[in-house]
Amino acid sequence: MGSVAISTSVHGRMKVLATMGLVRACSRMARQQGKKIGFVPTMGALHEGHLSLVRTAKQQCDLVVVSIFVNPTQFGPNEDFSKYPRTFERDCQLLEREGVDVLFAPSVDEMYGNSSSTYVTVEGLSNKLDGVSRPGHFRGVTTVVSKLFNIIKPDLAFFGQKDAAQVAIVRRMVSDLKISVEIVACPIVREADGLAMSSRNAYLNAEERKRALVLRRSLIAAEEAFTNGERRSSKLIESGLKVFAAEPAVRLDYFQVVDPETLESVEAISRPALVAVAAYVGTTRLIDNVILAS
Ligand code: PAJ
Repeated sequence: MGSVAISTSVHGRMKVLATMGLVRACSRMARQQGKKIGFVPTMGALHEGHLSLVRTAKQQCDLVVVSIFVNPTQFGPNEDFSKYPRTFERDCQLLEREGVDVLFAPSVDEMYGNSSSTYVTVEGLSNKLDGVSRPGHFRGVTTVVSKLFNIIKPDLAFFGQKDAAQVAIVRRMVSDLKISVEIVACPIVREADGLAMSSRNAYLNAEERKRALVLRRSLIAAEEAFTNGERRSSKLIESGLKVFAAEPAVRLDYFQVVDPETLESVEAISRPALVAVAAYVGTTRLIDNVILAS
């Protein structure tokens, strides 16, 4: 194992690898030893949401690989790729402390070279929810996630329910392409006041940080209506929109009730449904969601 590892002394036992050859070798060796490999893909700027995935992976697997890669293909031309928060040293310390075995931190060149021309698209699903205002976003996600799966070949891969559409789309990709990995969805981790943790929360100023709570409040309103017996999506949406009307400085992108697997709108809730919201707080786009089930 020592011959393939580029470890930095700062990060102790965790191997920090930048090339796919080294990661493949590590993962192959672990597989030969009969170890179960868990994988947590991230774009870094890590917070407790990411770390909850790592902890779940640690519980369920023998070797945990985390990737940090700010994936250019999932950002639109006017989005925040260049200013996306990059806190690599701190991220390394956090992951080391969690007992992560391998951190894969490739360059854009390592992942795409200068002639990469193959993309993975989950037709249909990729144009729903965030795919409407972020065309090409999910194509970028499924392309990079399939590359990462091909390199690491994990037994289990851990995703946050915070990005509910991403979970649905990755699950469909894995099923359609017969990829041998089990997708594990983990619950949303929130700040004490209910705001869903996100690397993008770092963009919010104090005023915006308060306003951002409208997303969570709108979901709670829909959830309360559901608990009180309302099953018509139009009425649940109405209760969410009412909350947004009281916070006009926040621009709503969507508030939808959909099937958690197909992401198709549902009219009346008869089985678990996903209530998903996206909104711009200043220039920062935030998302949140809740599953309603009786
Ligand atoms: P990123 O936004 O860094 O998120 C990495 C993982 O952490 C995702 O599965 C996301 O759903 C999860 N996550 C983020 N905030 C969370 C929270 N508050 N609670 C629980 N889980 C949370 O999602 C991506 O990166 C990228 O699209 C990626 C899958 C890495 C592909 O580039």
